[in-house]
Amino acid sequence: MSEPILQVRDLVKHFPVQQGIVFKKTIGHVRAVDGVSFDLNRGETLGIVGESGCGKSTLAQVLMRLEQPTSGSALFEGVDMFGKKSASQLRQLRRDMQIVLQDPYTSLNPRKTVGDIVGEPFEIHPEVAPKGDRQRRVQELLDIVGLNPEHVRRYPHQFSGGQRQRIGIARALALKPKVIVCDEPVSALDVSIQAQVMNLLGDLQSEFGLSYIFIAHDLGVVRHLSDRVGVMYLGKMVENGTEDQIYEHPQHPYTQALLSSVPVPDPSVRDRREAIRLTGDVPSPANPPSGCRFRTRCWKAQDICAEQEPELAVRRDGGRIDLELAEGHPSACHFAERHDHVVS
Ligand SMILES: Nc1ncnc2c1ncn2[C@@H]1O[C@H](COP(=O)(O)OP(=O)(O)O)[C@@H](O)[C@H]1O
Ligand SMILES: [Mg+2]
Repeated sequence: MSEPILQVRDLVKHFPVQQGIVFKKTIGHVRAVDGVSFDLNRGETLGIVGESGCGKSTLAQVLMRLEQPTSGSALFEGVDMFGKKSASQLRQLRRDMQIVLQDPYTSLNPRKTVGDIVGEPFEIHPEVAPKGDRQRRVQELLDIVGLNPEHVRRYPHQFSGGQRQRIGIARALALKPKVIVCDEPVSALDVSIQAQVMNLLGDLQSEFGLSYIFIAHDLGVVRHLSDRVGVMYLGKMVENGTEDQIYEHPQHPYTQALLSSVPVPDPSVRDRREAIRLTGDVPSPANPPSGCRFRTRCWKAQDICAEQEPELAVRRDGGRIDLELAEGHPSACHFAERHDHVVS
């Protein structure tokens, strides 16, 4: 059984919606992340998937402590991430978790050399690499991500999109983190380049024992890298399972709909799979539907779905409900199949 490195419970991030120019009045809240729970096991990848606007980047920002959570908790190696901490605990946490962002065109400072960009974390954490050793460390990092170490004095515009994403990955690796949050790192890249960057991330994971949270809007992208996948809809986690559970036995209608839009090369699999087309847009997170948030787009919806919010839970034969985020296959649907595919 794997051990969780990160345990997130009931995480909430609401953004106030304000009106007025001088006297701002809060007239509502965008419920970007609205009670998300999951475990990330050490050395594994948790894919997080959902359409645009479902709260994935907000979740990433809160986990990186770039945004304060409204409520909820997260334990990193058993230590409360959002509670009061000593300065040294904070520094360590900042080293241990790093982020790689989607857009390699805007996330790198165009006026800095690649060497300065990749070496920047050492300015903030000089204890990781003494000054005399930094140049060598930066070149080593470039080499690790498949870039030419001699290009250390070049500028970001002298690199292709895929190479720039490698620069972003090298910078994320500089402080030897334990967890890397990848927020759609390949979504802006050509399909042919996506696989190369995904392979690099996979290699780095085995080499350094990294744990990843890998965010994407498409279930197809995360499949090969993910040990587990969490599906998000409108600020909620609606299903969470192993790669096999999610792709072979999806329980939540939203997951089934997302899966049906993933291209399948094998015609026999394609024929067996129901074609489900998601219609309409994601409703506004400032005013989500009552009960189950997916009900306005769901073909299974009944009266109960508008009245009662289904909780994310494993439903066993006897109706017992549990959370089991590290090993089980919980889903949040009143009409999810009432059985569990337990993996050993
Ligand atoms: N700083 C912010 N202030 C107000 N609303 C925000 C802010 N950041 C994100 N949102 C809103 O939160 C919702 C979720 O956004 P986001 O986390 O970026 O979703 P995703 O990454 O899944 O596309 C969206 O409705 C977005 O407009
Ligand atoms: Mg996003």
